[in-house]
Amino acid sequence: MSRPQHINHDLGPMTCPVDLAAVDLFGPGAQEHWYEMYEILHREAPVLRIPGGGLRPGTDAYVLTKHADIAMVVKDPERFTVMGQRRLTDWANEGMTAERTYEVSRNLMTASMVSLRPTQELYIKHRKELTDPWVGTGALRHRETITRLANDLVDEWIDDGEVEFISRFARPLPQRVFATILGFPLDDIPQLAEWGDAIVTPFVHGTGLKHELTPEQTAEMLARLEGFQDYIYEHVRRKRRDPQDDMVSFLCDVHYEALDRKLTDLEIAGIVHAMIIGALETTQYALEEQAQLLCEIPGLFDLLRADRSKVRAFTEEALRLRSPTHGLSTRMTSQDEVFQGVDVPAGSLLHLRYAAGNVDPDEFECPYDLDLERDGLTRHLAFSAGPRVCPGANLSRIEQQIAWSVLLDRLESVEYGEGNDWLHQPGIMLGTLKLNLRFSKIS
Ligand code: HEM
Repeated sequence: MSRPQHINHDLGPMTCPVDLAAVDLFGPGAQEHWYEMYEILHREAPVLRIPGGGLRPGTDAYVLTKHADIAMVVKDPERFTVMGQRRLTDWANEGMTAERTYEVSRNLMTASMVSLRPTQELYIKHRKELTDPWVGTGALRHRETITRLANDLVDEWIDDGEVEFISRFARPLPQRVFATILGFPLDDIPQLAEWGDAIVTPFVHGTGLKHELTPEQTAEMLARLEGFQDYIYEHVRRKRRDPQDDMVSFLCDVHYEALDRKLTDLEIAGIVHAMIIGALETTQYALEEQAQLLCEIPGLFDLLRADRSKVRAFTEEALRLRSPTHGLSTRMTSQDEVFQGVDVPAGSLLHLRYAAGNVDPDEFECPYDLDLERDGLTRHLAFSAGPRVCPGANLSRIEQQIAWSVLLDRLESVEYGEGNDWLHQPGIMLGTLKLNLRFSKIS
């Protein structure tokens, strides 16, 4: 299958980088040029030092762009410390309770992690027992729900001939799916979306490789989250009284074998918080970029309509080529390391550039081609890899595959509509802000 055409990326405040000196992955407007930057980095600086970018004064950060380096790092959480994990272990050893941690951090997720998964060993158990049954190994149970919700959305615009795809499909589908899985009413989605947007503030409006917010931005984020905790507590109370077939009811009832006890309300709220960070925007961006690829690559839509067995390969290749999460600064070196001949001292912050690893020519032949026959389709790092791989990867994969199966069932053709500007939102995720499509429906 051929390479997607390059759409107009000359908009925005940054001009197209032509050499290493012009590469600035975190500058305003960088999103429009990330892929041009990856070609330069792979050629000239596959391990890019960011002087002074480390966590402690005088330490550096390093951007890793090679698939092999990133894969090695994420597969070894002992050697490459998971950010925040050591702090959790220390706090737990000092006897910090979830309640006290919440007072200090004002972060529900951190509070639940202190008590439920303060070590790597407990991280694995927590995942297996608490989240896998709903969004991991057990995600297939949502197949019918997702199909129904996707069809409901298509019903709303199928007769119009054109649609703003993000607001009317790519964004509401993961929102409705996730509200249903958690057991929250669909009518609450506008409020849940507002909290979801607040929760991901650092990844959208944070600056630099540490996604830093100003004190004002942090205060605003906390203000926007007002009511979130009470909302979850209210549902937890109701579901403890009257359990339903949903994830929050399950968390209210489950006996957490690893700690031999049930979960507290605060711990449940923390898990919901973590899931919301991961689940909403990421899948939205995946669907939106997939729609763009279908408009850009001649014949691809017809090919998938004719052979549905290729939908999975399409979504995997799209995740590789247009990864929603471009990079995260989530690991540190615990000893001196050498990557691609570059010395990286112990205590350095590592920014893992998943999206660059996914177009690394040493790992993927013709990396910028969408190849439905590629060997090892899931080798990409869009969800990371290893023991800390994205816990919601299964759910997201199923959502994407079903979304396209439904769209292929209902649409005969699709192309770009009028009024697209191709500008991406700021932050560390790859996603345009609007996407107008024109289509013909299957009559
Ligand atoms: C296309 C969709 C998605 C992408 C690209 C994505 C990507 C990622 C990546 C790259 C990580 C970092 C893993 C690491 O540190 O090694 C991550 C972590 C995480 N993801 Fe996802 N994700 C997606 C969907 C989801 C969904 C649907 C959920 C929830 C149902 C979810 C929940 C999480 C959580 C809770 C974490 C943090 C895990 C931890 O504590 O270490 N993600 N995701």
